[in-house]
Amino acid sequence: MKRFLLGTLLLLILTVPVCADDAGGDIHYDEPVIGVIFSHDFHVEEAGMDCESCHDDLFEMEARAVQAQPDFNMLALSEGRYCGACHDGEMAFSSSTRCASCHEGAIGYRRALGLDSEGRH
Ligand code: HEC
Ligand code: HEC
Ligand code: HEC
Repeated sequence: MKRFLLGTLLLLILTVPVCADDAGGDIHYDEPVIGVIFSHDFHVEEAGMDCESCHDDLFEMEARAVQAQPDFNMLALSEGRYCGACHDGEMAFSSSTRCASCHEGAIGYRRALGLDSEGRH
């Protein structure tokens, strides 16, 4: 019985951090340019959006799947696709402003992924 309780407790401790990432975590884009950040924490917790606002009409639940689309770029955003569906200057700040809010750049990207200046782990 004691062992069972201990096991349950351990399982709880081990699963909590995993659950915290259920909302999708941070996505870091590296194509066509390094690096752009999308934060689930911000969009879901701070801005209070539900999953259906983005899934699956705008985005699949798979990190960087959208990078396979040849039009995942600033032109598409300015025409209201992808992030640009909301980042149009009305629902959220426009994609043609505040570049550095989305673009963490090569240094930010490497730091977030724990890579060195050569891009290696
Ligand atoms: C504001 C838009 C937005 C909202 C709201 C949102 N997501 Fe996402 N989600 C994304 C984007 C963007 C991606 C990455 C898709 C891509 O890169 O192709 C993603 C990816 C994911 C992934 C895959 C993560 C991985 O590492 O492969 C999961 C799981 C996910 N979302 C779950 C959720 C859940 C659950 C909710 C609601 C609690 C939610 N998302 C709300 C935009 C959103
Ligand atoms: C369903 C609507 C929606 C989509 C899609 C969406 N966002 Fe947002 N985003 C918002 C809203 C609303 C805010 C908060 C209002 C604001 O800052 O103007 C926000 C804020 C942000 C912020 C500011 C976060 C901060 O810390 O201040 C960043 C960066 C951002 N979004 C990046 C992205 C990127 C990158 C994508 C596409 C991968 C994306 N968003 C897709 C609605 C959306
Ligand atoms: C709402 C988030 C967001 C904002 C704001 C934003 N970008 Fe982007 N940008 C993206 C995403 C998403 C991509 C595609 C993914 C990638 O290249 O990593 C991208 C890609 C790009 C690219 C490569 C593709 C292309 O269209 O040529 C350039 C260059 C670029 N952005 C410049 C800018 C500049 C300059 C600004 C400010 C005027 C800006 N971006 C503001 C999200 C944003």
